[in-house]
Amino acid sequence: MSKLNILISASEVVPFAKSGGLADVVGALPKALEKLGHSVIVVMPRYYIVDKQKYNLTPLEGALGVQMGVIGEEWAEVYQGTLPNSTVPIYFIENDHYFGRSGLYDEAGVGFNDNDNRFIFLSKAAMQLSKKLNFKPDIIHANDWHTAAMPILLNTVYANDPHFANTASILSIHNLQHQGKCYKGAMDVLAVGWERFNHYELEEHDGVNLLKGGIVHANAINAVSQKYAEEIKTAEFGCGLEVTMQKHQEKLYGILNGVDYEEWSPAIDEFIPKKYDANKIKGKAVCKKALQKEFNLPQKANIPLIGLVGRLADQKGITILAQAIHKLLELDIQIVLLGTGEAWAEEFFCDIALQYPEKFASFIGYKNDLAHKIEAGSDFFLMPSLFEPCGLNQIYSLRYGTLPIVRATGGLDDTIENYEPFTGNGDGFKFYEATDTALLNTVKWAVDTYYNDKKGMKFLIQNAMKKRFSWEESAKAYEQMYKDAINTRFGV
Ligand code: ADP
Ligand code: GLC
Repeated sequence: MSKLNILISASEVVPFAKSGGLADVVGALPKALEKLGHSVIVVMPRYYIVDKQKYNLTPLEGALGVQMGVIGEEWAEVYQGTLPNSTVPIYFIENDHYFGRSGLYDEAGVGFNDNDNRFIFLSKAAMQLSKKLNFKPDIIHANDWHTAAMPILLNTVYANDPHFANTASILSIHNLQHQGKCYKGAMDVLAVGWERFNHYELEEHDGVNLLKGGIVHANAINAVSQKYAEEIKTAEFGCGLEVTMQKHQEKLYGILNGVDYEEWSPAIDEFIPKKYDANKIKGKAVCKKALQKEFNLPQKANIPLIGLVGRLADQKGITILAQAIHKLLELDIQIVLLGTGEAWAEEFFCDIALQYPEKFASFIGYKNDLAHKIEAGSDFFLMPSLFEPCGLNQIYSLRYGTLPIVRATGGLDDTIENYEPFTGNGDGFKFYEATDTALLNTVKWAVDTYYNDKKGMKFLIQNAMKKRFSWEESAKAYEQMYKDAINTRFGV
């Protein structure tokens, strides 16, 4: 395939700013695409937390002007860096008014009320920057609602711009729940023409839905797992956009995320106390003991330790976990939890830790090294999600020989194979109903396997650690998708 120029923009990118898996994906996919021979640039905001000195960011000459419709022209400084262990350039859009805040999307759990303008600004700045750099993209790759305006802008404001004459667009949906719904005045900021304010494009309930506009205008859409790509066409998972998804299913893909194994491998992980791999698994016991110590739990080797890392959001099944927790803690187990999110959940799980100091411990906060330590030191990893577009933690867990206990939805269903005691096949434990009873019964099954089926545990751990979800494979699938998007737009 001929070399493509690809412009990728997102609201978060590892290692610069991260709240969840989106950042992992946008930090890794461009590098895999570069390895396939493509020319990729990445654009994200320069939040306060992005340390210019630490990352050796250098300013581009001249400010970038961005037309914000009725707001008028706004300006940005642009800083350039590179994605670690690559030569992929990443550009940071600096504008204190929009991005000079400590949170990415909110502060103390309260969303900023100008998030629509902030990310319309990012989307427009990314388009303008490609002109300033004279980087003529073959593909514009938007991610989630934050940059979903890019495919809309390409088809409207930039429709006759020679710079974008050969450009097609794609949109990755990492989470359909967040759609960038805003007041209809946003049409005047977008400035793409009020004729676009109709039910088939940007309008919804007399407001603007940015993600819907992106879905309609992109030449292809990726929903980050096959199963999620199917699910979002139904009322249960479509978050009100199921009809739009059905209508555009011809251009809907389900390319699974890969894993950056340079970051997430127990054999080379710098954050864990003892490195190990499938052939020398002993180090895992050392990691378990250290984890128990860090969380102030009794340091017992022969008790199943269940880890949980994630945003404490409804999506992650925290309600059914909360309903099941007392019965779960009647079992002979330990649980460690790392997460931040909804206030009730933070309080609830802190309280559970006080009630069960020998069995349950939590750290409320965001801590990358601890996430690695939990992956390495736990026996099982629990993800009872109500929906999960892809999910990365269960894939990391496989690599660490930490058996996932998951609800069979979206990417969790696609990546985890249920244990079959008679054949020794499988690499985790799945449940189907989103209920506390199903969750409890499946944890009981895993715990029973731990205590009474040692041979089965060995098979499971070996199967899990052997499995690979490489970015190379996913990048090849994206490459094909880009090609399809170009063909759709311009004909073969
Ligand atoms: P989502 O993107 O929905 O949050 P994923 O499983 O795709 O879920 O990705 C979550 C990523 O964020 C993982 O890399 C996980 O380790 C990380 N993460 C989530 N919460 C925390 C936390 N409190 N501390 C450290 N890392 C976290
Ligand atoms: C989202 C999803 C998660 C997915 C991640 C990266 O935040 O909730 O399932 O793994 O994006 O695609």
